[in-house]
Amino acid sequence: TTHSLLILPGDGIGPEVMTEVRKVIDWFQTNKGIAFDVSEDLVGGAAYDKHGKPLADETMAKALEVDAVLLGAVGGPAYDNLDFSVKPERGLLRLRKEMDLFANLRPAQCFDALADFSSLKREVVAGLDILIVRELTSGVYFGEPRGIHSDDNNPQNEGGRVGINTQRYTSGEIRRVARAAFELAKKRDNRVCSMEKANVMESGILWREEVQWVHDNEYPEVELSHMYADNGAMQLVRRPSQFDVIVTDNLFGDILSDAAAMLTGSLGMLPSASLGAPMANGRPRAMYEPVHGSAPDITGQGKANPIACILSFAMALRYSYDLGAEADLLEKAVEKVLADGVRTADLMGPEGGTPVSTSQMGDKIVEALSAL
Ligand code: NAI
Ligand code: MG
Repeated sequence: TTHSLLILPGDGIGPEVMTEVRKVIDWFQTNKGIAFDVSEDLVGGAAYDKHGKPLADETMAKALEVDAVLLGAVGGPAYDNLDFSVKPERGLLRLRKEMDLFANLRPAQCFDALADFSSLKREVVAGLDILIVRELTSGVYFGEPRGIHSDDNNPQNEGGRVGINTQRYTSGEIRRVARAAFELAKKRDNRVCSMEKANVMESGILWREEVQWVHDNEYPEVELSHMYADNGAMQLVRRPSQFDVIVTDNLFGDILSDAAAMLTGSLGMLPSASLGAPMANGRPRAMYEPVHGSAPDITGQGKANPIACILSFAMALRYSYDLGAEADLLEKAVEKVLADGVRTADLMGPEGGTPVSTSQMGDKIVEALSAL
């Protein structure tokens, strides 16, 4: 079987970090005989420059055909004043929407060599490896009714206005993201913790019941627990290693995943994935991308840390291509390089030292792959 991949480097440091991912892909093709069918196209400002819009229709069509999309980053000062309809991030949003990527995966993984970068004590984060699965296409960010209205008939309301958003989840929306979480847990430590506020929210009660239903009927072999999201936030900071996979809604997931990100340190280290429904070949629709943006402040200087994008590719190996052993190997190579003290500028501690360039970091990771 071949593994098709559409690479969309995008803007700013996107193309710089993607060059390093290419080295890794080449290494797997050459040394492990894995056939990747890689194509590359434009997104964001780069696509706007060529097509007058941030994602061409042909690119969108291609994204719907491939096993996985790997995106660098979009945006930058040159595009800040564009009309809203053609802004670079609209390209990203179109991909997410048309691929219907409802499960956003944000791993928080602590490499031992970087444990001192964490906001928490080393002993709390050492060995940490959790995965937050956030529902991405529904919930309070999308629910109707919404809006800001006048509240003139209410004399008690100083200011006279009311702002409304609606948390709305269907059972189907909850079941599909729960399934995604259970499937992921099976490839990890086989444990899912579902977080909501069933004590005070109707949608939270439904969330808990539907996750439990999917568990009982389809994944009884996976360990399931439930936790109120506020307690979850506390536990995440107190003892994060108690978790394996966390599944939660759009709003709680937004907050919890940002908190979890800071357990591990630099933005240049954080990968992500967004998954949709299974395609005809059984693989989920998937887009992988580093959490960071296009970093215009360091673009073109060889300072970008390519690890977030390389780890995003590791997620593609694991979740799109079913190459778990290869994903482990790539993560071990990153770990080894960090343990050897190789650091891009963003990973330099107060003790200082000489940082390596984007390209040198990529080379070191490939060397480590060969050495392992
Ligand atoms: P950013 O993530 O691009 O940069 C924030 C800070 O982190 C900067 O100081 C940057 O130099 C540093 N940084 C980011 N990635 C790094 C890496 N791999 N290695 C070393 N340092 C790194 O966020 P910012 O500055 O708010 O946004 C810049 C542009 O990126 C804007 O146009 C924004 O709209 C866009 N953006 C795009 C995203 C995407 O494509 N998914 C996500 C976030 C922002
Ligand atoms: Mg956020």
